[in-house]
Amino acid sequence: MHPLQCVLQTQRWGPLASVSWLLLRTCRACSSIPSTACASVERQQEDGIWKDFSSRLASGPTFQHFLRASAPQEEPDMEDPPPYLTVDELLGKQRKVYLETYGCQMNVNDTEIAWSILQKSGYLRTRNLQEADVILLVTCSIREKAEQTIWNRLHQLKALKTKRLRSRVPLRIGILGCMAERLKEEILNREKMVDILAGPDAYRDLPRLLAVADSGQQAANVLLSLDETYADVMPVQTSPSATSAFVSIMRGCDNMCSYCIVPFTRGRERSRPVASILEEVRKLSEQGLKEVTLLGQNVNSFRDSSEVQFNNAVSTNLSRGFSTNYKPKQGGLRFAHLLDQVSRVDPEMRIRFTSPHPKDFPDEVLQLIHERDNICKQIHLPAQSGSSRVLEAMRRGYSREAYMELIRHIRESIPGVSLSSDFIAGFCGETEEDHLQTVSLLREVQYNMGFLFAYSMRQKTRAYHRLKDDVPEEVKLRRLEELITVFREEATKANMTSVGCTQLVLVEGHSKRSASDLCGRNDGNLKVIFPDVEMEDVNNSEVRVRAQPGDYVLVKITSTSSQTLKGHVLCRTTLKDSSAYC
Ligand code: 5AD
Ligand code: SF4
Repeated sequence: MHPLQCVLQTQRWGPLASVSWLLLRTCRACSSIPSTACASVERQQEDGIWKDFSSRLASGPTFQHFLRASAPQEEPDMEDPPPYLTVDELLGKQRKVYLETYGCQMNVNDTEIAWSILQKSGYLRTRNLQEADVILLVTCSIREKAEQTIWNRLHQLKALKTKRLRSRVPLRIGILGCMAERLKEEILNREKMVDILAGPDAYRDLPRLLAVADSGQQAANVLLSLDETYADVMPVQTSPSATSAFVSIMRGCDNMCSYCIVPFTRGRERSRPVASILEEVRKLSEQGLKEVTLLGQNVNSFRDSSEVQFNNAVSTNLSRGFSTNYKPKQGGLRFAHLLDQVSRVDPEMRIRFTSPHPKDFPDEVLQLIHERDNICKQIHLPAQSGSSRVLEAMRRGYSREAYMELIRHIRESIPGVSLSSDFIAGFCGETEEDHLQTVSLLREVQYNMGFLFAYSMRQKTRAYHRLKDDVPEEVKLRRLEELITVFREEATKANMTSVGCTQLVLVEGHSKRSASDLCGRNDGNLKVIFPDVEMEDVNNSEVRVRAQPGDYVLVKITSTSSQTLKGHVLCRTTLKDSSAYC
């Protein structure tokens, strides 16, 4: 008998499609007996649970049932579960889940979505690994190193799982997110102690996957979706004292930059309906949060086509000199509309967004950022390289000149804007001359923040199939070091211009280094440290106050480094009252 007892493989998309799997596995060692936790399964067999499950499974699911189970928009129906499971088996029954997040901010948000779904099914959350019944790792595949970290972590968890085989409640381990999507059953083959896999669009299926795993079977759902946005799943705010939150507005990416695995692990680009985003932002405002960051792989490519628009034929305005790797899209509610609406929900709530693509900065977005007090004057503009030749090989859709023109235009449209970028050192075919062009771009732009990486070849990408990873590792690392040094020098210079200025800071709490200092963020998202002292409140001159997390304060900047500003606090204020300083 083939170890994949049931496999549904669906090719749902056109040329961008990646193969999707929904599978239930039996044990490789004993084929009819489920894998991984054989000892615990024996115990369950004694209880008659497995026998019952096994016979239901053998006689049970039809092709239609698997189609239904694969529909990612549907959470397992508690009243009408699949025929091989009972309602009771779908419930968490207060078992404790430990969630561990790796990678980007999207993964932090995904963790909360997964948790929200499990909480509804009756699971509890624990921050203590030792008392967990279920351990879920939300994973990242963007670079080789990110995946290696997960493999190492799985080796550590092996010991914990083995210890638990002897206990009444076996430990279940799951891999969620990009790595589950990229490697699929390779993870189950390499690490027999992994019980479940759930790709980024399969979190609604977690209760069912865990129920299947409870019978001792490995279970996986790595189907990608064209429309899953988890619009109705409100992420659970983990820290009640938090001042800011992330709100996911779109998922996936259609750009297919030649180095990037994201379109393969997170699927096609799709946007969440505006109404559900506004509802979430309103709720966060009611909870007293003071900052929202709109989140997505390409936030500013946002396009809500969920309602029929009168302007469906209007084609997209791209930034000047930029092109796309896909056919022009039309209609729908665009990012400028969303940003306008979101920023009106609460004038005291700061709005940020990440991560955008430089191609989608039409003038209306720039004007809105300039005009609206509560939209932060901070733009992330991932350049990736300063060489037009490398940018072409990366399929970024712009030249160095077009990128620099956009920088000039943004600086003109939004005076005082804070800029950040991503760069990759040592991409396929990058020469010393290309590298020096990146160095000169860093010097020319003088970014306030930067995220720099050595190139890591990823399977499936266009670069993997068509280009040669020909820059030796030590050269990549040397170039990366050079970029970091230049970035730091320039950021220090850029931040120096803040000295003597008064800036509006949103207080986050005490500084990690000193309990007598407070820490917050300025409009450009840089960390600002200042002494925790009494101050005047602009709305009530009779009292002196100490700043609390969530307060806005004015801070006079006295010194800077490449990453932090220091200063002294002047008064407590509001976002509206502060208007423009410096
Ligand atoms: N190697 C190195 N860096 C990468 N990035 C994306 N793919 C790779 C890769 N294969 C970087 C890009 C992107 C950021 C999120 O990660 O700079 O903007
Ligand atoms: Fe990757 Fe490019 Fe999409 Fe960013 S825009 S997620 S780098 S493919």
